[in-house]
Amino acid sequence: MARITCIGTGNVGRAWAVVFARAGHAVALYDAQPDLALNVAMPRIRRTLKELAEAMPTGETAEAVASRIEVHATIADAVRNADYVQESVREDVAVKRSVFAEIADAAPHQCLLASSTSALPGSAFLSAIVHPERAFVAHPVNPPSHIPLVELCGTGATSAEALGAAQNLLSAAGMEPIIVRKEIDGFILNRLQYTMVAEAMHLIGEGYCTAEDIDRVVTSGLALRWASIGPFMTAHLNATGGFAGFVEQLGPMMKRMGQDAKTDYDWGPQQVAEIHEWLASQLPVDDIAEAQAWRDRRILATRAMQKSDDGVGKAKKPEPETF
Ligand SMILES: NC(=O)c1ccc[n+]([C@@H]2O[C@H](COP(=O)([O-])OP(=O)(O)OC[C@H]3O[C@@H](n4cnc5c(N)ncnc54)[C@H](O)[C@@H]3O)[C@@H](O)[C@H]2O)c1
Repeated sequence: MARITCIGTGNVGRAWAVVFARAGHAVALYDAQPDLALNVAMPRIRRTLKELAEAMPTGETAEAVASRIEVHATIADAVRNADYVQESVREDVAVKRSVFAEIADAAPHQCLLASSTSALPGSAFLSAIVHPERAFVAHPVNPPSHIPLVELCGTGATSAEALGAAQNLLSAAGMEPIIVRKEIDGFILNRLQYTMVAEAMHLIGEGYCTAEDIDRVVTSGLALRWASIGPFMTAHLNATGGFAGFVEQLGPMMKRMGQDAKTDYDWGPQQVAEIHEWLASQLPVDDIAEAQAWRDRRILATRAMQKSDDGVGKAKKPEPETF
């Protein structure tokens, strides 16, 4: 098994630790606030592992998996013997640049170096390190312990071998990597997500609907299909002629919605405060940690549903009825 290091043990870093440890790897943790790694991240990791115990691919107990995770006091100690480093420190290009300079100097030269950045192009902080060919973005969806998609994106300097090795390691750990073929701000998932959120801010701001309506449109509408099929397969299944038939009928509407959307809508603090007030009336900010655990249980249930069939195109024909 590989030796993995997770730098930064906040929301994302501790979920990555779960991904790698449950796959059988030894995991070294480092956070700029060591007490946070020991007293916040480790208990949260143990709790997540207990919740995932039945789904552990190695069949081990949560405690056995947790025993492979060790907190280190410095970056140099944490990465000295690493095969793969996953950085998840705060989204600040200067902080990432300095953290990666330190990681790259102390890690073995063949060690793969990955960043969890949500939107920064890797070339903004990975190009000047020692051996930049081994460094790339591996953008997860929070929490990666429960959601398998990872967006891998190289910089101009990343080697195809490094991306291929990362794909293999992440796939073997139960993740589903896709390759973003060219650097772009926000990669794919966040471009889709925040384009939709930007239009939602416009629709709320101009009085077409409330934030509650938007959340319901997604959970009781769009997401019920999207947990099984993406927007293109949705269109393919929505017309007798498949995607081409769908576009023949509704293509002009598709273009019009794109042209009409006000994704540059200038929402302000008043609108943010109103949305926050509604959200906090549903879920007080102090209850967010508990609600994250609830959300993660729901994600697991959805994953179980996703895994329970063969996927679109392979749907089993109904068994003939027997009397
Ligand atoms: N939260 C999300 O939904 C999400 C999803 C995908 C990717 N990301 C990305 O993952 C990264 C981490 O996000 P998060 O939500 O876990 O943040 P977070 O604030 O929960 O955790 C960041 C951690 O980094 C530590 N840290 C800060 N500076 C450091 C340094 N110099 N060295 C070591 N540790 C340091 C902090 O102490 C903290 O524990 C960001 O780049 C973010 O954009 C976040």
